[in-house]
This record gives sequence, structure tokens and C-alpha cells, in this order.
Amino acid sequence: MIVAKGLNKSFDGFVAVDEISFNVKEGEIFGFLGPNGAGKTTTMNMIQCISPKTSGTLEVMGMDVNTHQREIKKFLGVVPQENNLDPDLTVYENLLAYSRYFNIPREIAEKRIDELLNFVQLTGKRDTLIEPLSGGMKRRLVLIRALINKPKILILDEPTVGLDPQARHLIWEKIKSLRSRGVTIVLTTHYLEEAARLCDRLVIMDYGKILAEGSPSEIVREYIGTDIVETENDPSVIACLKRHAARFETLEDTVQIYTENPQEITYQLLKECPSRPITARQASLEDVFLKLTGKKLRE
Ligand SMILES: Nc1ncnc2c1ncn2[C@@H]1O[C@H](COP(=O)(O)OP(=O)(O)O)[C@@H](O)[C@H]1O
Ligand SMILES: [Mg+2]
Repeated sequence: MIVAKGLNKSFDGFVAVDEISFNVKEGEIFGFLGPNGAGKTTTMNMIQCISPKTSGTLEVMGMDVNTHQREIKKFLGVVPQENNLDPDLTVYENLLAYSRYFNIPREIAEKRIDELLNFVQLTGKRDTLIEPLSGGMKRRLVLIRALINKPKILILDEPTVGLDPQARHLIWEKIKSLRSRGVTIVLTTHYLEEAARLCDRLVIMDYGKILAEGSPSEIVREYIGTDIVETENDPSVIACLKRHAARFETLEDTVQIYTENPQEITYQLLKECPSRPITARQASLEDVFLKLTGKKLRE
């Protein structure tokens, strides 16, 4: 559905997106995971044909973003990072106004709006102005606004940023339900949990580059393995790990051991370096991120 090869975007010589290549398949949820400033929104803007690429190729449904902007936009629904709803209009009027951009006949638009309001449990807010809505309601409204033209590809730029857990879970359910209806979904997020729960495949981005690509479990297995054992970063611990040829990485006060057999290395550590706290857990996307970039996600 979307193919990028060696895609670049510079702003006055500052490289925001640096030679990225990716391929979004029909019907999947494809994620861009990365900290603020990674280049996610810049990439979304190029897909949406609202910001021209600097170089490389980018095709949406086989069409070049440089030459087929109008055609591409017809197939896209977009949830931008900022809500940008019209505060002078009601919920219903916001949706109706949007339907006019796509020249949807009024009668069809009215019917569709009622269905969409019902889909995200906003029917009771139909005639309310925007300002009194909660953050979660505004986000759901922007989500259905993006669905008004029945898009084949839905782009969600940080769909749940700043929302409480209940509101976030509701949006996640809606995104999954759209996938089951065959909508191809591209989302950006800096929430590791969101990426792990929703994405069929994803890329991890930082400083404009793609650092890893695959399904969440493939990425974890490729870069870390299945499990992590953590203990104190201490010379005797390091010596023990070297004796057992363990794969490990040090992070300031802690050492992380990447392993397929957490019992075995835990047993050796307890035997050879007693009285240290040791924890074992499953490896996650966060571990991959730490390993690839050597730092925590920047919020
Ligand atoms: N219009 C612009 N002009 C100059 N720099 C920009 C512009 N838009 C984004 N950037 C820069 O490009 C980098 C990537 O930004 P962005 O794509 O918004 O990141 P993300 O969405 O991953 O947080 C940032 O360093 C940002 O400051
Ligand atoms: Mg962004």
C-alpha cells in the first residue's frame, strides 16, 4: 500500500528523515515507534502529500506522491498529531464540514456521521461544542472525522498521546476493529506498549533513521533474545558473566544479560556472586530501544 525507498526530507540542510525505506502491506497495522524528533510526523506528512520529499521514492497505492496528490488524498484518512477541530462548530457540524471537502452528498454524509458517532460512542455528544469534550472524546471525534471518506489507508499520528488509560484502551479497540474491516493503518507512537499491542509490523526510528524493522516479537528476538536477567553492574558479576560466555550489556548501575535460558545464568550468578539482587523477565521492545540507542525514550 505504501512503498518508500531511500526517502529523505531536509529542512534548510537539517536532515529530518534520512534515507528510510519501508513497505506497508494491505490490511496491516504498521507502526513508526520513536522518541520526539525522530522524524515520524515528517514521514506522515510526506505520505499525506502535504510536505514534499527532498529525495528518494515514495508511492502510495502505486502512485507517486509528487504527481498524484489528489488521487492519493481520496484514499487516505488522517488523524493528525494535534486535534485541529473547529471550536465554533458542534461535533456534528465538524463532521459535516469535513464531508464537504470530499464532496460527499449531504444525505449520505448524514447517515455516515450517525454511524460513525455510534461507532465511537459519541452519539450523545452530537450537538455539543468541542470545548467541553474530554481529551479522549476529542480524539475519538478526530478519528471518525478521518473515516468520513471511507479511507483505504488510515494514518494516525500519535493517536493516544496524553490520554488516560481508559481512553487509550477505547481508541486501541477502535483501531483494531478498523483493521478487521480491512483498513490499512499506519500509526506513529512514542509509547512502547502501544506499538507492542497494536502493530503487526513496525520500524523503530531515531534521528531520522530506521534502526530496526519487523513484528514486535521478531524485533525483540533479533536484537535481544527471549529473556533478560538483570543484576548489579559489579566487577565480580562481569567476571562471572565472561566465564559463562553470557551476552550482556551494562547500563550505569545495572547489567542486563540477554539469554534464552534465564534459570541457568541466574543459578550461576547466585552461586558465584551471592547476595546481589537478580531479576528475570521477558525481553520487550523497550529493551531493544535501549540497546539500539543506549538511552531511554525521550518523552
Ligand atoms: N517545518 C520544519 N522546519 C524545520 N525543522 C523541522 C520542521 N518540521 C520538523 N522539523 C524537525 O525535524 C525533526 C523531526 O520532527 P518530527 O517529524 O516532528 O518528529 P516526531 O514526529 O518523530 O516527533 C525534529 O528535529 C524537528 O524539529
Ligand atoms: Mg510527531
